[in-house]
Amino acid sequence: MDKQYSKPMFNGNELNDKVIVVTGGGSGLGKAMATYFLKLGAKVVITSRNLEKLKATATEMEAETGGRVLPLSCDVRKYDEVEAMLDETIKTFGTVNGLLNNAAGNFISPTERLSANAFDTVIDIVLKGSKNCTLAFGKYWIKNKIQATVLNIVTTYAFTGSAYVVPSATAKAGVLAMTRSLAVEWAKYNIRMNAIAPGPFPTKGAWDRLLPGDLKDKFDISKKVPLKRVGEHQELANLAAYLMSDFSAYINGEVITIDGGEWLQGAGEFNMLEEIPSQLWDMLEVMIRSKNKKE
Ligand code: HXC
Ligand code: NAP
Repeated sequence: MDKQYSKPMFNGNELNDKVIVVTGGGSGLGKAMATYFLKLGAKVVITSRNLEKLKATATEMEAETGGRVLPLSCDVRKYDEVEAMLDETIKTFGTVNGLLNNAAGNFISPTERLSANAFDTVIDIVLKGSKNCTLAFGKYWIKNKIQATVLNIVTTYAFTGSAYVVPSATAKAGVLAMTRSLAVEWAKYNIRMNAIAPGPFPTKGAWDRLLPGDLKDKFDISKKVPLKRVGEHQELANLAAYLMSDFSAYINGEVITIDGGEWLQGAGEFNMLEEIPSQLWDMLEVMIRSKNKKE
């Protein structure tokens, strides 16, 4: 069957009037979302710590989409670098009206093995980085009365928590709280704030750090997903484009999970009954019904 979800959802110029900064836009999911924004007519800035990598990616993206990409070095942990990145964006494109907080740092580790600096490093990239960008851009938008949208990439363990990635879970939960808080506070300035909570979408950056070595084979992550597959980058890009576009103008303060039902599978009290074969249900039904008989 044709996989509709592997295809672009929009095909026109739905993001024609957008100038969007994608932090961590030079790799993985950030690159996939940025590429799709370009295809829909947006002007895009991709940022990360590695300018050489960004420049190569920008050239590749421009060739693929015919769009306009500005690669900028910016460590999101440093507020002065974020302000400089904002200034450079405005200098090049005249304005900015979209921010995708996608940059992240993460790795698996028992928490007691972490140094204070290791914990801080992840918190600083994810929570402080998202805060730095949101605050700098928000001040600019409010001062200049610009209607704008912020989209934050969190994860499903922002609500459940997760062992072995505790700094990331702590930081992503903070980003989600910021999303919901500012959705209310800044709505009066025509600034929308939403989040996406992806389940597993294979990328080199995440898989090298979360499933190193043969862990990929030991833990087939698609088995944890009720739909029995991992996500495809285009389906995430479709959702991100919708949330960045004016088609989602009434969606504000929302977090949309895109995980094939993964986190709920871990949560439901009786979800383990999935393992019961269908023939056994006949017997179980008889047993249960027998208890209903009036004495
Ligand atoms: C224990 C570690 C460690 C490890 C680093 N550290 N790796 N501690 N186990 N595996 C410690 C270091 O010793 C140091 O502490 C501190 O962390 C900072 O390390 P640096 O290497 O100096 O930091 P930096 O160069 O800034 O790199 C940041 C990073 C790195 C987070 C450590 O992994 C990175 O650059 N990541 C960016 C990309 C990324 O993580 N992508 C995956 C996102 S996936 P000391 O005390 O020695 O100074 C994701 C998915 C979520 O978020 C959901 C999936 C379903
Ligand atoms: P990725 O390719 O490693 O993306 C992370 C990006 O962040 C990289 O481009 C990295 O670039 C950049 N970055 C890291 N530290 C930075 C800093 N201090 N300043 C600026 N940029 C920085 O991994 P990914 O899987 O695409 O992850 C993208 C987003 O999706 C993250 O928010 C992640 O938490 C989220 N997510 C991913 C999954 C998944 O299954 N892949 C699931 C849920 C959520 P440099 O290292 O070059 O700076």
